Amino acid sequence: MEKKLSYPKNKIKVLLVEGIHPDAAAMMEAEGFTVELIATGLDEDELIEKIKDVAILGIRSKTQVTRRVLDHAPRLLAIGAFCIGTNQIDLDECLNKGIAVFNAPYSNTRSVVELAIAEMILLMRNLPDKIMAMHQGKWQKSANSSNEIRNKALGIIGYGNIGAQLSILAEAVGLKVYYYDIEEKLALGNAVKCTTLRELLTVADIISLHVDGRPENKNMIGARQFAQMKDGVIFINLSRGHVVDVEALSENIKSGKVRGSAIDVFPREPKNNKEAFESPLKGLPNTMLTPHIGGSTLEAQVKIASFVPEMLMNFINRGNTSTSVNFPRLQLSQLEVGHRLIHIHRNEAGVLGKIDLCLAKHNINILGQHLKTNEKIGYVITDIDKKYSPAVLQELKDIEGSIRVRVLY
Ligand code: NAI
Repeated sequence: MEKKLSYPKNKIKVLLVEGIHPDAAAMMEAEGFTVELIATGLDEDELIEKIKDVAILGIRSKTQVTRRVLDHAPRLLAIGAFCIGTNQIDLDECLNKGIAVFNAPYSNTRSVVELAIAEMILLMRNLPDKIMAMHQGKWQKSANSSNEIRNKALGIIGYGNIGAQLSILAEAVGLKVYYYDIEEKLALGNAVKCTTLRELLTVADIISLHVDGRPENKNMIGARQFAQMKDGVIFINLSRGHVVDVEALSENIKSGKVRGSAIDVFPREPKNNKEAFESPLKGLPNTMLTPHIGGSTLEAQVKIASFVPEMLMNFINRGNTSTSVNFPRLQLSQLEVGHRLIHIHRNEAGVLGKIDLCLAKHNINILGQHLKTNEKIGYVITDIDKKYSPAVLQELKDIEGSIRVRVLY
């Protein structure tokens, strides 16, 4: 049976804004899509103007994809966030309209881990102060408060992608690793699991925070937790700003309880490079402050530029949603013979039955079928072995609750 494409690929229009790495455009052009690359961000009205005939939108963290924007995007099938966060996208409205959203959750894991290791070494040698003194013309040659990191106890709070990767690298440079996570996590290498946060806080010479930013984690490290730490602890936060009470951290740095700290994320961060940075941590001894650049490396940008297009193309070409942020997750291999239909509908009882009834009525045999739902939508992939008529597609679209029907091949 002859396979045919439901839609010529060059008619699939891709809009990439905010200076996304050109590798992303190259990959999608090689796939046959028509790509427009814009170096800057677009405000709501500019995006509305541009998005009319766009099928795939690629953004970074600044572009706001609001309900109003989505209302003007009748052809939009998928959004790629070339970053980790997706707060800038109205995910709920995307579901209502059957638009799948993808992001790049792992691309900068290694970058964060490398920075954490570097900071541990710098802080253990008291280098932030020594470097500052040199710039002020002060020569302070001394081994006082200078240590190796070898054989020190590293406590990792949050043993997810970054925490686990840090565990491996930290052991390679001779640290003894302890970790605490609220979920059951497999200990990698020789890492030792702590069953309570307190246990970790009391054992660690260096504490590195890698929890996610869920609201319950607000101020999870405050005065009480600092009191439980060893005297002269090194404290590193490259996760999210609100998880640490920075007033309490500032007090503990001043008292010497915390002998060194590296902080990359803050409860209040400037919105752009022009706004001033304010924090009670400014000007404190052996304190490294960085502007939320833990994951910002060129290597991470390159990885993001290939990861996100791959996810988008897997969705467009095969219906794969296994890494989607908002869609029910389904992954199917390419079909050798036949056609693949995608049906996105409101999560209401009986829709699958109606789809199958419609196909049976047209004498279409089903080769395989998968349904996954979440609280809002149902996502059905149906593989069939026969050519279909436009009438079938129209009937599928007419099923009560349908949001979108698409033929992949
Ligand atoms: P992840 O989701 O893979 O891991 C987070 C882990 O923390 C999970 O295992 C979770 O169970 C655990 N956790 C959550 N609350 C906890 C608690 N109260 N106590 C103990 N464990 C807890 O996330 P991933 O990719 O490892 O990222 C970690 C953090 O790093 C996130 O907050 C992320 O936003 C941040 N990040 C920061 C970057 C930067 O530029 N500074 C770049 C990339 C990520």
